[in-house]
Amino acid sequence: MKRLLHINASPRGTRSRSGMISAQVLAGLTAASPALTIETIDLFDADLPPFDAQAIEGRYGLLMGTPVPPEQAAAWDKLRTMAAHFLSFDGWLLSVPMWNFGLPYRLKHYIDLITHPGMTFRNDAVGQVEGLAAGRTAIIVAASAMPFGAMPAIDGLDFQLTYLNAWLGFIGVTDIHAVRVAGTFGPDEAVAAVMAKAAADAAALVTQLAARAAAV
Ligand SMILES: Cc1cc2nc3c(=O)[nH]c(=O)nc-3n(C[C@H](O)[C@H](O)[C@H](O)COP(=O)(O)O)c2cc1C
Repeated sequence: MKRLLHINASPRGTRSRSGMISAQVLAGLTAASPALTIETIDLFDADLPPFDAQAIEGRYGLLMGTPVPPEQAAAWDKLRTMAAHFLSFDGWLLSVPMWNFGLPYRLKHYIDLITHPGMTFRNDAVGQVEGLAAGRTAIIVAASAMPFGAMPAIDGLDFQLTYLNAWLGFIGVTDIHAVRVAGTFGPDEAVAAVMAKAAADAAALVTQLAARAAAV
């Protein structure tokens, strides 16, 4: 991997639990591959254009194979630039808190901006979807107060990792790795144990990815 985009969906800065584990992943990947270039997009500071009625009409047109009308061209040029920027990376690291069982709205907004026909996926003549992001690597660091992974009874409430796996699959990504930071609310000792487990899982993932890179 030569270029990695860190997509940070937590607004909590250095207090972010997902961010703490992602920082460890980034440091480990950099140590293993010093030439790795990392760019970060902080979604709560990023300029995300509105995806409004006009832009949506352009999408329905694209789905029908008609060009974006002139009055929507500038808005769609911006979306194409964002999607091309996303696809220009070999891999992505997503730092993602769970909010109300799903994603923080800024990450969903970003996904809505870049996920369009001809940009990150395409439909063939018989309506089959082909993802255009194939061949890249995605790493998800998923933080939640709820202890997903340790309590099967709550698995059905996970619309965070489940959603991201589905979306990445839709745009063609198959090499998906996830580290859960799950159970971030509770007594200090319990949260410390959660962080220690996530750190160990992150270290194992970095070792796995570094070994793979070395074998290429
Ligand atoms: C608006 C909001 C909604 C949240 N909803 C959930 C939730 O549905 N389930 C859950 O397990 N945690 C929920 N949490 C807790 C966060 O997922 C948890 O604190 C996580 O560690 C935050 O990650 P971060 O520190 O990287 O931002 C919510 C937090 C916020 C701010």
